[in-house]
Amino acid sequence: MQKSLSLKQASQKIKKLREEIKRHEKKYYIDNDPQISDHEFDLLVKKLEELEKKFPKLITPESPSQRVGEQPLEGFVSVQHRTPMLSLDNCYSLEELREFEERIQKLIPSQKIEYVAELKIDGLGISVVYREGKFDQAVTRGDGLRGDDVSANVKTIRSIPLEIKNTKEIEVRGEIYLPFMSFEKINKEREKKGESLFANPRNAAAGSLRTFDPKEVASRRLDLFLYYIFIGREEMPTQWENLKMLQKLDFKTNPIARHCTSLDEVISFYEEWQEKRDSLDYDVDGVVVKVNSTKQRNLLGFTAKFPRWAISFKFPARQATTRVKDIIIQVGRTGALTPVAILEPVQLSGITISRSTLHNEDEIKRKDIRIGDTVLIERSGDVIPKVVSVMKEKRTGKEKKLAWPSSCPVCHSSTFKPEGEAISRCINPSCPAKIKESILHFAWRRAMNIEGLGEALVDQLLEKKLIQKIPDLYDLKHEDLERLERMGPKSSQNLLEEIEKTKQRSLDRLIYALGIRFVGERTAQALASHFKNLEKLAKAPLGKLIQIEDVGPKVAESVVFFFKQPENIELIKKLKEASLNLSFREAERSEDLPLAGQTFVLTGSLENLTREEAAELIEASGGTFSSSVSSKTDYVVVGESPGSKLAKAKKLGIQTIEEKDFLKLVGKG
Ligand code: IVH
Repeated sequence: MQKSLSLKQASQKIKKLREEIKRHEKKYYIDNDPQISDHEFDLLVKKLEELEKKFPKLITPESPSQRVGEQPLEGFVSVQHRTPMLSLDNCYSLEELREFEERIQKLIPSQKIEYVAELKIDGLGISVVYREGKFDQAVTRGDGLRGDDVSANVKTIRSIPLEIKNTKEIEVRGEIYLPFMSFEKINKEREKKGESLFANPRNAAAGSLRTFDPKEVASRRLDLFLYYIFIGREEMPTQWENLKMLQKLDFKTNPIARHCTSLDEVISFYEEWQEKRDSLDYDVDGVVVKVNSTKQRNLLGFTAKFPRWAISFKFPARQATTRVKDIIIQVGRTGALTPVAILEPVQLSGITISRSTLHNEDEIKRKDIRIGDTVLIERSGDVIPKVVSVMKEKRTGKEKKLAWPSSCPVCHSSTFKPEGEAISRCINPSCPAKIKESILHFAWRRAMNIEGLGEALVDQLLEKKLIQKIPDLYDLKHEDLERLERMGPKSSQNLLEEIEKTKQRSLDRLIYALGIRFVGERTAQALASHFKNLEKLAKAPLGKLIQIEDVGPKVAESVVFFFKQPENIELIKKLKEASLNLSFREAERSEDLPLAGQTFVLTGSLENLTREEAAELIEASGGTFSSSVSSKTDYVVVGESPGSKLAKAKKLGIQTIEEKDFLKLVGKG
């Protein structure tokens, strides 16, 4: 019967369905007041999808059917925030909170100060921009200045509207979080699949937001609370009005917030929610206290790092008691032996805790922790819980002291503990535990960033002897990977592509990825820009290293030691043979770069570049990459099957160029 529907009839029907779905989305996800069952809701969406399939011309990006994209993402493009997303100073006591108010009063004497107290959600900061009433771009907080464009993933969150009733350019900011229920569910599934577990809901939310498959993200049930809005460049006169305006535009705000006319009211809000925080289905780690008036905020301004008009008043760490079932010894990348307490699982701030690090042998002795002991543990924020103390009065006499091993528990080689150090290390360079950790470090996001190479896969690769050390990654074959558990042709292809990409990573990332003891990201950067080449660094004598700013004797010695080891000399040789980039690429002066000061938007798909590569190229050439067309756009690069951005560019009279001209502009024509 529907076949005979005319375009006009279909359009009306689709419109009605969309409105109905949007109404239920609001009722269910924002007001917490569902009017229909989940099943009925899914049926409505399905009906819409079917109709749109018959009339694809009628699909718009804002249709509720378009929340979950079909295509996996290629990567995340880094985007600059319109105004920095700051973080907050912390305080832990009433005295410190009063000092915060005193500092304010000194700066704006004889003004009455009102506050808004909000819960501090333990999630991830997000900024979402709407243009012409439509969802345009969602960007993570990142380092505060730049974040990742995670639009496709944020669109899957049903409480974020895809359309709003205001056509000005609007930016909203808030916190994405994962409710406890979803967190436990995800971890249970990961456990079943043999994947590593998320330590807390915040990490799980971060991991979910960085997932490349929007379908997977949609299944994770992320949610968000918004607390800030810019309308155009304008700010609301007060924080309370920020919340009211957000609500008026159907954004989700946290209903638990209070307008306080004195600091005492803030304190009673804090005390009330410290008591009640366990009743929430999401993790909070304190109360954010904000000066209400925007005028006053502007007078107060910022310190080098934080706004002076807000502070986060942290809740004390939550504690619990449980029993130590066992103490195991783990061996890390540098061979360090770390004792870990295996605990009787216990609920702590909404999370099941079943292990806790004991740091080192001395710590066990100092606290006299024995197997079988009842202990007091605490978890603060996203930190792994620690054992605070042993409840000695609960001892039965059956507790056992841990006999500290004299050899490595994994490979049984000797261990060594330098004078004055607390940590003993396995001295065997080919200890399997060290190798596994060094490969994981090499692959991790901030090092060589091999997406998809996680613990479960590394375990399999080592077990099947497909790799035995880092350079073996570059000899992996499609046929071998395909046959592994939970790998298929597609994921093995993806992994090989990811590994291929590492050949172009910068020298500082490579140095960091080697996992030299004491060489963190900053030191790696200093070494890269000083030596310009990995082989030169490898030959550098101690005297030269010490001269570098940021490099002390301890670091210098560690670097020299690392490059003296035969297995590391071999490693560098192999990485060179695998044609990894071993040289520092001098960043040219930005104003001399070909695209300096120009903003580019991309529509459609390019023949020679992925979206991410194009964005990288634009930024490396001094230009700015943006995901939406506005009057500030200089060029729109048009690829195969361009979208609505092309029409918009034409409307605004913005220059459009084809891929080949774009490549010429960046000197790759
Ligand atoms: S206000 C300058 N309000 O905590 C204003 N932040 O350490 C900063 N957060 O980056 C943001 N709940 O991601 C604000 N109710 C709340 C918050 C909140 C969680 C996060 C946010 C921010 C971090 C600050």
